[in-house]
Amino acid sequence: MSGATPRIAVLPGDGIGREVIAEVVLLAEELRQANRLPASWELLDWGGERYLATGQAMPAGGIEYLRGFDAILVGAFGDPRVPDAEYMRRVLLRIRFELDLFINMRPVRCLDERLNPLRNVVASDIDLVIMRENTEGMYCGAGGRVYAGTADEVALQDMIVTRRGVERILRAAFDLARSRPRRKVTLVDKANALQFAGDLWQRTFGEVAAGYPDVAKDHLYADVAAMELVRNPGRFDVVVTENLLGDILSDLAAMLGGGLGLAASANLHPGRVSMFEPVHGSAPDIAGAGRANPLAAFASFVLLLRHVGHPELADGLDEAITRAVRDGVVTPDLGGSCSTAAVGAAVRERLEAKVRP
Ligand code: NAD
Ligand code: IPM
Ligand code: MN
Repeated sequence: MSGATPRIAVLPGDGIGREVIAEVVLLAEELRQANRLPASWELLDWGGERYLATGQAMPAGGIEYLRGFDAILVGAFGDPRVPDAEYMRRVLLRIRFELDLFINMRPVRCLDERLNPLRNVVASDIDLVIMRENTEGMYCGAGGRVYAGTADEVALQDMIVTRRGVERILRAAFDLARSRPRRKVTLVDKANALQFAGDLWQRTFGEVAAGYPDVAKDHLYADVAAMELVRNPGRFDVVVTENLLGDILSDLAAMLGGGLGLAASANLHPGRVSMFEPVHGSAPDIAGAGRANPLAAFASFVLLLRHVGHPELADGLDEAITRAVRDGVVTPDLGGSCSTAAVGAAVRERLEAKVRP
């Protein structure tokens, strides 16, 4: 996409989602005023507050409305005052499913040796991307219950796996690997226990891989993949996996780069409106304390900038994030003592210093 004036919808959501997105909006506004980012954004307050006030987090027609934008920036959803996660699913998972954002791309790098949690591994060995299937698996809401509330209650949560769904995420993973120096795709599944789903993934993997002879293919069962991520992360380049396994492995992998405070994601459907968000949630345990790390939100904005056709700004912001980390201007989750606002200001200053004409 290369629209000169992209339209961006901003959904801060709840808890620290609001705090970290506020820092990104300050940056975007500065860039716009300096004529460096011709874009317009609209803040949509579709979070827990609105739900508590109106009984609806997203207004009727919300998904259709989002289709009118080039990109969507999300903070995080999850309000502890709303006991049932149904409201959060109605916003976040509806965006992913109804906009058919089938790729959940979650890159992990370790920006500084001080953030590397592993012995015998150097920070530069940690450079992988999880390509999480984002519209199928056990997240579809297929299932049900019988005998609810009795001792005989039964719950079913079905796992949906389609040839079409598997094939398209596999192709996206191989295409991505082709653009990276190590050109390797690791399929992660539980084909040893889940025979039907596993078989479909494995057969399709073999068929898709045949079209990419220049990309190395590799396979691990998910339990061993969890171990290998900690033992030898350097063996991973692009990891492709189904929805729930990708969710779990992406928090584990995030720790290799310093933690959730740095982990960014893109929810993509090539050629369509896409959604960008930190991997972390609303963190009620630290919400309101001014200590949330805004770097995952900034890093998600890097992915958004690239998507809307501003690669030079994306590179500049990426470098500003790395510099802030290397200068030790970081929040407590990364071992520092800076506030959310101080880190936000540091990133904006470093970008400003870099792009100043
Ligand atoms: P979480 O990611 O919100 O927090 C996990 C831990 O990491 C907490 O200790 C938190 O303080 C810390 N943490 C997370 N992000 C941080 C940051 N930027 N800076 C510093 N520390 C950070 O996970 P959770 O506690 O399981 O979930 C809280 C709520 O968020 C739940 O309602 C959950 O469903 C929701 N959630 C939403 C999203 C999303 O909207 N994309 C993602 C994950 C969780
Ligand atoms: C994530 C989150 C979501 C998921 C939750 C909030 C439904 O954990 O984006 O990683 O499981 O996908
Ligand atoms: Mn998650």
